[in-house]
Amino acid sequence: PDNATVGDRGQLVIGGCDLLDLAEEFGTPLFVYDEDHLRARAREAVAAFGDHATYASKAFLCRAMARLVHEEGMSIDVATGGEMAVALAADVPAGRLHLHGNNKSGDELREAMAAGVGRIIVDSFDEMDRIEALVAAGSPAPRVLLRVTPGVKAETHEFVATGQDDSKFGFTVATGVALEAVRRAEASDAMDLVGIHCHIGSQVFEAESFAKALAVLATFTAPLDLPELVIGGGLGVPYVTGEQAPSISDWAAELTSAAASLGITATLGIEPGRAIAAAAAVTLYTVGTVKPLEGIRTYVAVDGGMSDNPRPVLYGSGYETFLPRAVEAERPQQVRVVGKHCESGDILVRDAQVPSDLAVGDVLATPVTGAYGHSMGSNYNKVLRPPVVFVRDGDARLVVRRETPEDLLRTDVG
Ligand code: LLP
Repeated sequence: PDNATVGDRGQLVIGGCDLLDLAEEFGTPLFVYDEDHLRARAREAVAAFGDHATYASKAFLCRAMARLVHEEGMSIDVATGGEMAVALAADVPAGRLHLHGNNKSGDELREAMAAGVGRIIVDSFDEMDRIEALVAAGSPAPRVLLRVTPGVKAETHEFVATGQDDSKFGFTVATGVALEAVRRAEASDAMDLVGIHCHIGSQVFEAESFAKALAVLATFTAPLDLPELVIGGGLGVPYVTGEQAPSISDWAAELTSAAASLGITATLGIEPGRAIAAAAAVTLYTVGTVKPLEGIRTYVAVDGGMSDNPRPVLYGSGYETFLPRAVEAERPQQVRVVGKHCESGDILVRDAQVPSDLAVGDVLATPVTGAYGHSMGSNYNKVLRPPVVFVRDGDARLVVRRETPEDLLRTDVG
């Protein structure tokens, strides 16, 4: 996080809060977000694109987060009725929400249209049918963007690459289907078509991939005369030492100049999620078991795992780890940090370097866990989801409480 410092005992302090004190007060596992870091990233996006900077709330969403990005001037991308409900519960005006999804239900569309969401990003002809039926039944006609696939393959994990023609998302540009979709939307009284949307993938480091997509979009949109063009999210963040990514400001500058040189006159929009939230947070765990396997490796087991961070098991994602009590200590020992779930894939850090005095009871932190950790978390093994605290200027504010066993039974009506 931006506001990480080393305290007088060599311990890590974020937003003026000692991480060991937070672990003590709120327990572990715990998500700790540097609130000023979130705000600074949101401001970078807004400085470049105003309210056409949209926060992709799938990365991390709770009411406090929705309020924060709204206060900073971002619009919010909601990909389901559930995300929409949380954003509305945070009193974000519906007009600032953009509803996404490749298979929006009739109910999701009806609720979004009744609430008056700012944009619906239309993804299929079936969705157009549903919108038309709802308008015929009295729903107000929404402003829409059409999501298109530009035929650009972003360099990232195949599960999160979305710009290639073989994709469940959007209307294909190359086959002419996207143009057909534009013609149908233009002709329909049930939709107010204001622009084109494209998202090539996530955890993308190469500005070049976005420029390639913009080039396809420039050609596609030139004859259309539509006021808006959204290039999606996808800006990558470094998770492990050695990785490098452009800042939001650099990314924005590259997009803006690429668009200008391609003669794009539509107002450009972006939709970052990870780049806003990921590096703002660390997860704190407590070490419960240290198991040295002679001649093989040492397993260090913590009190969370794939239920609070499924990214390693899903995508093989790498993370760093350190002990908040001694951030600058030498880390000569290699161990595997694992969770407490009942499978061997439950790995948090495959090859972690840790201090030689790491011991049971230590608080261990994994940085850059602010995006797609809490939001993709689960109750696997009926583990209780961890709480979230926002820290700022020495204050720690609980924004999501730890689950209790009663929460596990809330929906169990048998
Ligand atoms: N816009 C759309 C239409 C998207 O589908 C996404 C992400 C974003 C924006 C935000 O992308 P970002 O800026 O966060 O890269 N669970 C995966 C990431 C999935 C991303 C899905 N869509 C992970 O943990 O890496």
